[in-house]
Amino acid sequence: MDKKYDFGLVGLGVMGRNFILNVADNGFTAFGNDLDKEKVDALIKEGGDTSKVNASTDNKVFLEALSKPRKIMLLVPAGKVVDIVIESLLPNLDEGDLIIDGGNSFYTDTDRRESYLAKKGINFFGAGVSGGAKGARRGPSIMPGGNKEAYQHVKPIFEAVAAKYQGEPCVTYLGPKSAGNYVKMVHNGIEYGLMQLTSEIYDVLKKGGDYTNDELHATFHKWNAGRLQSFLVEITSEIFEQEDDLGDGRLVDKILDKAKQKGTGKWTSQNAMDLGIPVPTIDVAVSMREISALKEERIKADELYDRPIVKHMNKGPLEKMTEEALYFSFIMTYAQGLHQLADASREYGYELDIAEIAKIWRAGCIIRAGLLADITEAFRADDSLPNLLLSPTFVKKVQGTVDSARELVAFGAINGIPLPGLSNSLTYFDAYTSSRLPLNLIQAQRDYFGSHTYERLDKEGIFHTEWEKE
Ligand code: 6PG
Repeated sequence: MDKKYDFGLVGLGVMGRNFILNVADNGFTAFGNDLDKEKVDALIKEGGDTSKVNASTDNKVFLEALSKPRKIMLLVPAGKVVDIVIESLLPNLDEGDLIIDGGNSFYTDTDRRESYLAKKGINFFGAGVSGGAKGARRGPSIMPGGNKEAYQHVKPIFEAVAAKYQGEPCVTYLGPKSAGNYVKMVHNGIEYGLMQLTSEIYDVLKKGGDYTNDELHATFHKWNAGRLQSFLVEITSEIFEQEDDLGDGRLVDKILDKAKQKGTGKWTSQNAMDLGIPVPTIDVAVSMREISALKEERIKADELYDRPIVKHMNKGPLEKMTEEALYFSFIMTYAQGLHQLADASREYGYELDIAEIAKIWRAGCIIRAGLLADITEAFRADDSLPNLLLSPTFVKKVQGTVDSARELVAFGAINGIPLPGLSNSLTYFDAYTSSRLPLNLIQAQRDYFGSHTYERLDKEGIFHTEWEKE
């Protein structure tokens, strides 16, 4: 084969096939590889012209077909498969080639692979790709991390295939090592938070305002035309319209209320705990998926306890309150995730630029939202901002919506509607904005039973008191 292809992709599932077709649509030639002959044939057929898109089950043929340095993206399931594919490619790679893992790999796995391959002269990138199958085809948000010089080889391809926000590509070099996978992990943590909050608002509108699916559709549709404009609000509005093609009524009412998870939200939470950065909206979004999985126990428990009878609210005030509370809690979720990224950047040496991250999330990815343009501006105005809540432009947005969050959380508590995402967002806000918290008492208790010492407000130094009266 004389003709060499610009880009290689291993793993021709839906994501891989769509990504490679997107590469070809943008003027680059691409070659795919998969062990499954049906997938290889399907790509060749869909590509239509083998001089632009070709594929093979044989990885030697695949590697032979690529121009050097080879740029090889892996879109295979995270975990062992990534290592197996790397090992299968390794004997036929040349120094300077690039492997880009586009899956949701755990960031420490990426660090391990990067240093293992660096010793062999191979550049390894962890690049989060967000936007689902459609995004891969039409323009995803791409979050690459790894060797900065090597990134230049793949930059033109990534910039061409990525989603565009007002002409700017939703991809940028994020930082060394596993920066790309780490940023994608936190993206997914934020995704969990926003999804949980949206589901709580759905619950309140349905139980507290008797909203029909048509009204829910119309409400979310209207919100999507305002400051809540976002991919998740948009698809939520569409979900309420979907008819059940296996029976009568709307599909959403027939779906089992057990939410599955692949782990990225949990990793975000676990790592935030390790860093000591509070992300309570994300934490509880993970917990709610866990509670949802306990369906049989929930049914038994439901029979054992009385619930308050929900007092209905008028639709007008309820809609205003829910819109404001959702906007408020969306801000809290982004604030928490970005705070975690800023801290992780210092801890792991990622050199992250938060404004650049918000910028590449403005289109293509699952958490894209109108709010991200404002967030980008806030961090551009002050790149050392420790938390979005400290941005002067966000004070107004938060101040104008927090009262509705308070009323809604109280409404949920009184009426027995669980609103943990909203209430954790509110508590996060109240605690983060309190110059004095009651944790002085915890310090006193620690010193009382364990001589753990404490500091004072009025004097420098470390103190211990003999609290027990003889
Ligand atoms: C994306 C999504 C994508 C995937 C989630 C689903 O950005 O395109 O985040 O990566 O849909 O990982 O995660 P759960 O299965 O854990 O909900």
